[in-house]
Amino acid sequence: MKPLEPCGVRLAGTGSAVPPQVLHNRDLERMMDTSDEWIAQRTGIRERRICDPTKEGTFTLGRDALVRALEASGMAGKDLDLVICGTCTGEMPCPSTACRIASEVGATPAAAFDLTAACCGFVYSMNVADSLIRSGRFRAVGVIGVDAMSTAIDYDDRSVSILFGDAAGAAVLVRDPDPTRGCIYQRMHADGAGWSNLYIPRRPQEVPEEDRDNPIKLGCLRMNGREVFRFAVTKFRETVEDALAGTGLGVDQIAQFVCHQSNQRIIEAAREKIGIPPEKMPVNIDRFGNSSAGSAGLLLDQLRRDGKFGVGDHVVLVAFGGGLTWASGVWRI
Ligand code: UT7
Repeated sequence: MKPLEPCGVRLAGTGSAVPPQVLHNRDLERMMDTSDEWIAQRTGIRERRICDPTKEGTFTLGRDALVRALEASGMAGKDLDLVICGTCTGEMPCPSTACRIASEVGATPAAAFDLTAACCGFVYSMNVADSLIRSGRFRAVGVIGVDAMSTAIDYDDRSVSILFGDAAGAAVLVRDPDPTRGCIYQRMHADGAGWSNLYIPRRPQEVPEEDRDNPIKLGCLRMNGREVFRFAVTKFRETVEDALAGTGLGVDQIAQFVCHQSNQRIIEAAREKIGIPPEKMPVNIDRFGNSSAGSAGLLLDQLRRDGKFGVGDHVVLVAFGGGLTWASGVWRI
């Protein structure tokens, strides 16, 4: 068999979707013992978007984001040969959300699968898609990062609910003859020993002894906020520094650092330590909260549409989250 030609990957288009319903901090004040001031100070969040569960969710948000990414790329669903959906809130364990989205956008018989890496869902999926295109097995991939976290939140609890919102981001990646284009450096890691710092138990036996008194309902997200915060601040900085060292690129050679919107304090702490100017590490957490796998793709789409990066620019994607997982990808657009 003839050996495959080396190739690169082109970001052909991006898209995003959020539900119209806004849940402001002031709404949460009426639902639980919290305040707009406490939430804004501790997280940078003012409001987030929440699905109407009767007609919206992970599937509809992911589908709408991919439709917009296809429109932006001037392509049709039938042009895709693979759809990857990074999510941890898929409506059904079977079929995958990706299968339903692929069918809705007309991508049949493209391969389709979900990828579970919690808040790293989009960055992991982008890295996997780039690798599969470079392997020569796939030519055009629809990548989605989406979570409807409101479906896994106990709104009687103030420790976790204030942080999360619902959103989707998507990208269309296409084989390109230039091997220097696409994801030029990537890292994906996990440490399952820390799983119980961020988890969604379905049955009582899944709850560790030390968390049995936690009043959060089964089926809803539980988080050891302080522990995750500690992990995130260190890992986030290390992951960005590793991406710069691994590519030999300086901060001045990166157009945008597109980070999972976990908590503004986490992002700011890393940004200041590394010495990245604020305009290169933008945040939208004030308006959309932490949307888990949705956040990096949503921000990437907003930045692309605002013209914050273009062909030839370097963009760094970074995320960390449940698993525990952390990942980066350095893209030459
Ligand atoms: O994207 C996935 C990864 N997840 C993250 O990155 C989240 C990382 N963690 C965090 O962002 C922060 O830990 C939180 C924002 C979740 C919490 O902030 P914190 O500064 O770590 O607060 P804390 O849990 O240490 O609680 C401090 C105090 C406590 O009161 P006492 O014990 O000091 O009297 C809490 O009971 O704040 C209280 N508190 C609240 N007060 C008002 C906790 N939640 C609330 C609330 N409103 N919503």
